[in-house]
Amino acid sequence: MPSPNEILSELRKIKYPGFSRDIVSFGLIKDIEVAHAGVTVFLAPVSANPDVVRTVIEEVRRTVAAMPGVPGVQVEVEAAQPRAAAAHSARRPIPGVRHVLAVASGKGGVGKSTVAVNLALAMHALGQRVGLMDADVYGPSVAMMMGVEEAARVNPQRRIIPPQRYGVRYVSMALFVDDQTPVIWRGPMVTKLETEFLFNVEWGELDCLVLDLPPGTGDAQLTITQRVELVGGVIVTTPQEVALLDVKRGVAMFNEVRTPVLGVIENMSYYVCRKCGHRHEIFGHGGGARMAAELNLALLGELPIAPELRAGGDNARPLVAVSPQHPASLEFKAIAGRILERMARLPRPIEAEIIQ
Ligand SMILES: Nc1ncnc2c1ncn2[C@@H]1O[C@H](COP(=O)(O)OP(=O)(O)OP(=O)(O)O)[C@@H](O)[C@H]1O
Ligand SMILES: [Mg+2]
Repeated sequence: MPSPNEILSELRKIKYPGFSRDIVSFGLIKDIEVAHAGVTVFLAPVSANPDVVRTVIEEVRRTVAAMPGVPGVQVEVEAAQPRAAAAHSARRPIPGVRHVLAVASGKGGVGKSTVAVNLALAMHALGQRVGLMDADVYGPSVAMMMGVEEAARVNPQRRIIPPQRYGVRYVSMALFVDDQTPVIWRGPMVTKLETEFLFNVEWGELDCLVLDLPPGTGDAQLTITQRVELVGGVIVTTPQEVALLDVKRGVAMFNEVRTPVLGVIENMSYYVCRKCGHRHEIFGHGGGARMAAELNLALLGELPIAPELRAGGDNARPLVAVSPQHPASLEFKAIAGRILERMARLPRPIEAEIIQ
């Protein structure tokens, strides 16, 4: 008879229907009991879609039954929490916002904000109604990149009206925390206020709200991801081999809050020499692809090192908006397309209830 661990490794081979992620990393396996009579696998609520539930149960049964020495298999699925109970859970959808997408990175300085800004603009270019929320109060870089300087306005209902730039509605805690606020206060303010803050913005109707999480995978990031109903997360990384660990942390964070990772975006992948046109892969080739394969994640795209991307950020002239035909802008739009496709395939968390 195999051990629960051996069974778990076999179960890792089963993909969640429609995803490249396996059911174990999705957090579906609650327990495995091995007894004389056979094996019982206990699953967390799988989905509100009965076809998905049936497929997963069948796959689990087939996979475990095929292991040597297993006399019988039973699969038990925990009932999904009723909707009323789910409503009491800490996670809430943002009214009017169809999908909230979190952009994360295991560490700072990998270009997460640059990616969040240009990704939001690329989604807008593809016809989506998009909002952008800068959840990083320590580095108000997104406001600078978007060219938003003025404090946000508040309507008579005391709801925040987000300024709009290049067709994207944008808001940041940084627009409310003035420069005089000591940094030491910012951390607690973030965790306490940020999530409430998100729900107090008059977003209007949005297809997608892009959330630029603070760099790293600590408490502040977890708090946000625990309070807001996310459709998924993307992880921004750089191609070095050492980045694998950071990406793993990002994946672990999203796993902890049962949020699917839609994929990895590799930034600063290569540099195209202006003189010779040659593509230089400064950190070596294929790091992102190898990492994605190792972690069973999709590689959503590879962005070049482009001085225009940096300059666009510094001058509040984001590349995708001002040079839509630049190769990096085209790659952003390709990435946006892939993300939209993946989001469309995902049921909204409240509908799916894979979250609870
Ligand atoms: N692909 C790129 N090509 C050239 N410069 C880039 C690229 N991506 C990011 N940069 C530059 O690198 C710097 C860091 O980028 P950014 O602020 O987006 O990173 P971040 O991960 O959000 O950092 P932080 O951890 O400080 O929030 C910025 O000056 C930005 O303009
Ligand atoms: Mg940033």
